Amino acid sequence: MNAAKKLFVKTYGCQMNVYDSERMIETMEHAGYEKTDTPENADMILLNTCHIREKAAEKIYSELGRLKAFKSDKPDLKIAVAGCVAQAEGGEIMRRQPMVDMVVGPQSYHRLAAIEKVSGNGRKVVDIDFPEEDKFGQLGARAKARRAPSAFLTVQEGCDKFCSFCVVPYTRGVESSRPVDQILNEARYLVDRGVRDITLLGQNVNAYHGVGFKGQETSLAALIWELDKLDGLQRIRFTTSHPNDMDDDLIEAHGNCAKLMPYLHLPVQSGSDRILKRMNRSHTAQSYMDLIDRIRQARPDILISGDFIVGFPEETIEDFDATMNLIRYVKYGQAYSFKYSTRPGTPAAERDQLDEGVKAERLYRLQNLIATQQKSLQDSMVGRNLPVLLEKTTLFEGQLVGKSEYMHAVHVNAPETMIGSIQLVRISQSNRNSLTGSLC
Ligand code: 5AD
Ligand code: SF4
Repeated sequence: MNAAKKLFVKTYGCQMNVYDSERMIETMEHAGYEKTDTPENADMILLNTCHIREKAAEKIYSELGRLKAFKSDKPDLKIAVAGCVAQAEGGEIMRRQPMVDMVVGPQSYHRLAAIEKVSGNGRKVVDIDFPEEDKFGQLGARAKARRAPSAFLTVQEGCDKFCSFCVVPYTRGVESSRPVDQILNEARYLVDRGVRDITLLGQNVNAYHGVGFKGQETSLAALIWELDKLDGLQRIRFTTSHPNDMDDDLIEAHGNCAKLMPYLHLPVQSGSDRILKRMNRSHTAQSYMDLIDRIRQARPDILISGDFIVGFPEETIEDFDATMNLIRYVKYGQAYSFKYSTRPGTPAAERDQLDEGVKAERLYRLQNLIATQQKSLQDSMVGRNLPVLLEKTTLFEGQLVGKSEYMHAVHVNAPETMIGSIQLVRISQSNRNSLTGSLC
């Protein structure tokens, strides 16, 4: 038998890309490849790219420039570009970097093995279709190996919201949801292989509206209640949500579903109604804060995480202060914040831009405020007994690291046999980015 060919994958960007990379690796394993962590001995290199950050495409072009040397040492090496930069750039990638063999968009990666087969020896394939067929239905079985205790599961893709700063609706296309039975089968498969904590993924996950067992339209809340019935699955999370799609059933599930974790990533982007309108966000600062109140009524200890953009076109100091006030009101346990930067093709890119120095100063102030909130919430865990899902060993002998229900990393001395189980940990110390405790 021939030795398996080696596939090296580099993943950029969000959790959805992490999931997609896993699925692409599995597809290629069925086609006779095995994964390698060293690009030097690879027969195929796949870059799974992200388009959300500034100059994302340029960064991929320079990475491809670096890969040129690999290809001159090993002419049979195949190079593939997948993900959102592939979708956005298409055949342009080959025009600028002729040594690329395959360009595959996020909606057509189930065809990767077939594409790989016909590529090479100068034959190039670009597949950035939004095909009719069901991508997930066409992907083979998930990998058989035992898995880490936490896993991602994509349930929804694409977005119809068209926030004026964002490329996602252009690269990932319109919203679509996977059917409930497909998701349940995949979840069962993961649980049978040791997964205890599943994060349901979607660009706009709470807009989920998949086909249910009886053909009925099913909401994210209803899907969560179906997953709740799965023996062995202990924790359910979902990300990323839009405030306008937080319906009553989903809020109620946060109160009643014991497996649904008290952690919610709910981006607001700005606290100024004027800016929210220009961002095409379709909610106001007040409606967001009211929503947070209702979620906290259902689950008082829920940890709220957010996304913020500062220095959006026309943002005044008053607009920025409104964002700071919203943050003071909500008290975030976690947040991602960015200076606005233009994305070609999006409406906001055409508008007058703020000075970079002003953006940087505002970002600094906002991040300081959030860091203080984050740390005080983390500190408030000291003295509590928290259930922790133990995930892996650390560099320190005898120590494991795991996740609390609120997503804090927790270090604890415990035997390796406990990996994959939930243990009660008495928290004794709050560090920079983690907690330390001992088994109860
Ligand atoms: N500039 C800055 N931040 C952006 N994001 C998306 N597009 C832009 C942009 N043009 C941020 C938003 C989004 C997160 C994933 O990335 O906050 O929620
Ligand atoms: Fe982008 Fe999220 Fe707005 Fe959709 S809801 S356009 S993914 S920022």
